[in-house]
Amino acid sequence: MADGKELDIITAPFISNSKLEGLNFLRTPATGCFRRHFRGGLRSHLFELIQAKDLEAEQTGKVIDNIRQFPRAMPSRMLRVLRTRFDSLDQALKEIEKYRLLLEILGPDLVARSEEFIVEYQGCGQKEILLCGLQEYIKGTILDPWHLAGRDALKHFYRPNATTPCHGFIARATREIKTFVGAVRTMIHTTGHIPDLAGVGNLMLTPEGRLKLVDINNIIEIKQTASIPLDDRGYPCCDKSMEVLFILEQKILQQPISMDDPLHERFFTPERREEVKTLEQAFYKRLNKIP
Ligand SMILES: Nc1ncnc2c1ncn2[C@@H]1O[C@H](COP(=O)(O)OP(=O)(O)O)[C@@H](O)[C@H]1O
Ligand SMILES: [Mg+2]
Repeated sequence: MADGKELDIITAPFISNSKLEGLNFLRTPATGCFRRHFRGGLRSHLFELIQAKDLEAEQTGKVIDNIRQFPRAMPSRMLRVLRTRFDSLDQALKEIEKYRLLLEILGPDLVARSEEFIVEYQGCGQKEILLCGLQEYIKGTILDPWHLAGRDALKHFYRPNATTPCHGFIARATREIKTFVGAVRTMIHTTGHIPDLAGVGNLMLTPEGRLKLVDINNIIEIKQTASIPLDDRGYPCCDKSMEVLFILEQKILQQPISMDDPLHERFFTPERREEVKTLEQAFYKRLNKIP
């Protein structure tokens, strides 16, 4: 089941609740357990795979330098369960194919690698198909593209640590972001798809300044229609992801806007931006109404 090369398709019932016992299509490893991750997404359920000894240290503490400390148990892996229910196996396989394309173009350094697998389960008498992934856990801070300020924007994401000084962190993160935007542009030109860069927490920076795209299951087809495409939740995800690409280029890499850039020409006209803004506001209004 490595990276979806061979698919492990398991038939098992799935109890749809937040309790971990609900994940009964997984064998919990003898030395670990799953627990819900403290950050959740709109599209995915996220669970941490924790080693039992780390959980114990978190709960009962361990004495370091004569002080009892309660270190947060670091997940060894993340389990992603996409909320989407697929109608057919083909649809789920297509999603895995898109992830493989992403990995091929961006490379494993820029993507949090995931071993994708499909689960067929019987809910209320009807068979449904779930897409899951066991993904590497990325320790770090969220690179929030929407609140970047000043020339030293990356400094705010630095957390002091023993191995990387702040200037080393900024230099490395800048290099990684340059490679990343280049690879995303290649993906756009060669495949007509863009990964979701707009969602909160989709991009992360490690303490050493490495950039990782963790949200790997929302890869958007760039439609050639004049109207602004919306995702299944009514969010203008494609346009907002393009916007993040431009933000990274301009605010972090300090690259001037090229007037010949066909992407800029198409996605960044004042009229289109205004329309995207209206659609985005409508999306948040609907979201706030959900109890
Ligand atoms: N592999 C991972 N390592 C660390 N944090 C992660 C990982 N995957 C997701 N997260 C965090 O969980 C949150 C939701 O994840 P995301 O993949 O964006 O979910 P969704 O598909 O619902 O948008 C984000 O804040 C993200 O930073
Ligand atoms: Mg996301």
